[in-house]
This record gives sequence, C-alpha cells and structure tokens, in this order.
Amino acid sequence: MQDRFEAIRQALDAVGQSHVLCHWGSLSSKQRAGLLTQIEEIDLGMIARLAAQTTDEAKVDFTTLEPAEFRAIGDPTLPSFRAAGEELLRAGRVAAFTVAGGQGTRLGWRGPKGSYPATVVTGKPLFRVFAEQIAAAEKRYGRVIPWYIMTSPINDQETRAFFQDNNWFGRSPRDTLLFPQGTMPSITLDGKLMLETNCTLAVNPDGHGGSLRALAASGAVEDMKARGIEQISYFQVDNPLVKVIDPAFLGLHATAADSSGEMSSKMVRKRDAAEKVGVFCHHAGKTMVLEYSDLPKSLAEATDASGMLRFAAGSVAIHAISVAFVDRLTQGDFALPFHRAKKKVPYYCDKSASTIEPTEPNAIKFEAFIFDALVLTAKSLLLETSRVEEFAPIKNSTGEDSPSSSHQTQSNRNGAWLERFGTQIPRRANGDVDARIEISAATALFEDDLATLAAAGQLPKRIAVDSEAVV
Ligand code: UTP
Repeated sequence: MQDRFEAIRQALDAVGQSHVLCHWGSLSSKQRAGLLTQIEEIDLGMIARLAAQTTDEAKVDFTTLEPAEFRAIGDPTLPSFRAAGEELLRAGRVAAFTVAGGQGTRLGWRGPKGSYPATVVTGKPLFRVFAEQIAAAEKRYGRVIPWYIMTSPINDQETRAFFQDNNWFGRSPRDTLLFPQGTMPSITLDGKLMLETNCTLAVNPDGHGGSLRALAASGAVEDMKARGIEQISYFQVDNPLVKVIDPAFLGLHATAADSSGEMSSKMVRKRDAAEKVGVFCHHAGKTMVLEYSDLPKSLAEATDASGMLRFAAGSVAIHAISVAFVDRLTQGDFALPFHRAKKKVPYYCDKSASTIEPTEPNAIKFEAFIFDALVLTAKSLLLETSRVEEFAPIKNSTGEDSPSSSHQTQSNRNGAWLERFGTQIPRRANGDVDARIEISAATALFEDDLATLAAAGQLPKRIAVDSEAVV
C-alpha cells in the first residue's frame, strides 16, 4: 500500500491535487484502499486539461451552420419502413436500451428515477411502463427483446432492488441486463478535485454519452452480438410516452438508402425560439446537436420565408443505434467530449467533519452527451414525431417537464387516440383533455391497436369531465 500511496501522491502533486490525501493519517486501511482505487481510476492529465478550459471544446463555424433536414410527420414512405422494422423485430434483431444513470436532482425523487410513479391514473413507475411496452412488442413479434438498462454506481443497487421487488416486471432477469456507467470527478470552480467524505472523492455519473463506453465495458455489446442483436432502441428513463419499440423508426434507420444504419434520431419542432432544447443542425457535412445555450440568439430566432423557425428540430433523446457502430467506436481508447456544467455538489467540510449540501453552485461537473456520437456516423437520419405522441418528460418537480405537465400530455395523447375511434373526450378551451386517461401497453401499443376494441364495442362511448379512465 505504501508504494501505491507514494506513486499516487507524486502523481497528484504533479497536477496540484494532493489535497485529496489530507485525511490520510486518520483513515482506516479499508478507507485508504478505497480512496487510492478511486484516484487510480481517474485520468489526472485529462482532468487538468478539462480544468484549464473555460468552455466546451466544440468548435462550430456558425456562418456555415444549416438546419438539419428531417422526415416530417406523415412522410409517405414510413409504412414501408414499418414493415422493414417489423421484420427486424420478428428476426430478433432489436434490443431496448434505457439510460437511467442520471442523478435526477431536479425532480428530487428519493430513489432511481425509473421508480417514479409516472402514469396519470394508476401511477405506474417508469420502469413498469417500459417493461409493459416491451412485453407487448415481444408478444406481437414473437421474439424476446432483451432490455439493457444503464444505471450508475450511485443508483445501481437501488435499481436492482427495485427490479427484484417488482419481480422483474414479469420478465426473465436473463433478458433484463443492468450495468453501471462510469463516473467523472467533480471539480471546484478553481479546478480542484473535491472530497465528498474524508475518504471519497466527489464524483458524478459521466453523462448519457458514457453509455457507449459502458455498453462495451459491461459486456453488453458482446451479449448483444451473441444474441444476434443488430439495432438498439435508445431512450431515456424520464419519458413515459416514448415508443420503446417503434418499428417504423427502426426500419427507416436500418434500411433507408440515405441512412448509414449507424445512428438515427427523432425530433420534435421547437415550441418557440427560446425553448431550452438542443437543436439538430447540419455542419461540416454531418448532423449534430447544438445545445440551446450554444446556438446564437440570432440563429435561434431566425425564420424562413414562411415565418417558421429555421432551426426548429428539437432533440428528444430518442435514437436508434447499431451494435456495429457502438462496437466500432468503442474499440480502443474511446470517449465522447465532455461538457461542463456548474452544479451544486456536496463536499466534505474539515471543520464540521461532515458533508455539506451547498445552496449555490459550487462545482463543475463533466458529462458526455450521447448526441455527440452523431458526427461519428457516416451519415445520420432524423425523423419528426409529435410531442403529444411521444414526449412527456419528467425532469422538474413543478412547471415545465414536471409530473403535472407529463400527466396532461399523457391524457392528451390517450384522449386523442380514443377520440379517433369515436369516444367523446372532454376538452378545455386551450384544447387540453379535461380528464385523466391512461391506456396500458397491453391494450394498445400503438393508436391503430384500438381498432379491434372499437370494432368490438369495447371502448368507452364518452369520458366525463374531470374523471379518470383506464383503458
Ligand atoms: P438529465 O439530463 O435529465 O439528467 O438526463 P438527470 O441526471 O437525470 O437529472 P438532473 O439533471 O440531475 O435533474 C437525461 C437522461 O439521461 C440519463 C438520465 O437517467 C436520463 O434518462 N443520464 C444522465 C444517465 O444515464 N447518466 C448520466 O450521467 C446522466
């Protein structure tokens, strides 16, 4: 241990970070070993480089930035691509992949975000919502759809316990594979590594972009290859309306002549210029996502001849990604660029000998974003979807992207589905559905699935104002 300690002390000294060993003398041998392991896992040179930067590395020439092209809702070619996607599913070539390693600090839910009761009437947790969709798709296409779930070292155990407590939502644990992502150390605003306790560094999960490396490092890629999986349906844990398995999108991605089949994305039109979502752009021959904070105001507000926003393709973090692409990228020393964000990070206070929760941002967190892989594809496709159909994220505890906004969007989508088949749905003056309506995936995975129930007279004739309905 002494040799290890000396080597690490010297390495830390060389980059001005040896303060993290300041409690060494009072630590137990187990604590010492844990701290050394944590430090050994850090690329100190990279941290020094990142700490020296004041902005993200991405260099974009805004004079040549163009909006990304996309296939709009109702694209007439989609039905043929749906058939291609269904063939992939029937051949057992598709896996579902949820990134669920985030800290969910804005929502403030005690527990993994996937355990959050998300649906509007029965309060099904997010993981159950996805499990039910996967089960319905497995039944329809007659094949197992393995489900990979990326956790983080912070929530891995709790997430596993949640799956166990829920009997793996009726799935085989062999086909439900959880693995933790990597972490990155947080640093103070003046570039110093931070202690969270006297013997552990403050670290955060390394962003959803860490999922590519984690897929490879965990053995998930090898597992996928062994199962004959070719395409991964990627989605975030916080969107209860996501179509976990969308045959049209998968077919388009995998077989369209203008797709590389490596990584494709869904988008929604931005509500207005100020909406805080990343925007798909075309730059240097590639599709990319620019964070809202990186898009100059003049471009964010620019309109075309018909008065529509030019840069309108908002990112909803839904992708189709090929196993071969992940495999190719993750050979060797691969990492997506890290983005920096000022955040509140708990830190160890020597004086009180305790961990303090700061009230103001006190640190920089580094995270990689999955959409940065888009520029590494040969080319990449974009498919428009509508918010009401597929985007009701739960990120904040109140206001926009909160449980209440998500509930309203869920009811709006479910009401619209039923309306199409003749159910009378109450609506408010602003068009919102004035009732709480839930449709389970076992009843209808897609809107058209309601046709059979409608034909059999099994759908409600009307839903009363301010009532609850489960279909
Ligand atoms: P968010 O960007 O909303 O972050 O993640 P978050 O950590 O969940 O929430 P806040 O910002 O602390 O409130 C979007 C998606 O990416 C996943 C999240 O679990 C969510 O599904 N994610 C995020 C990871 O899997 N790992 C990460 O390191 C970060």
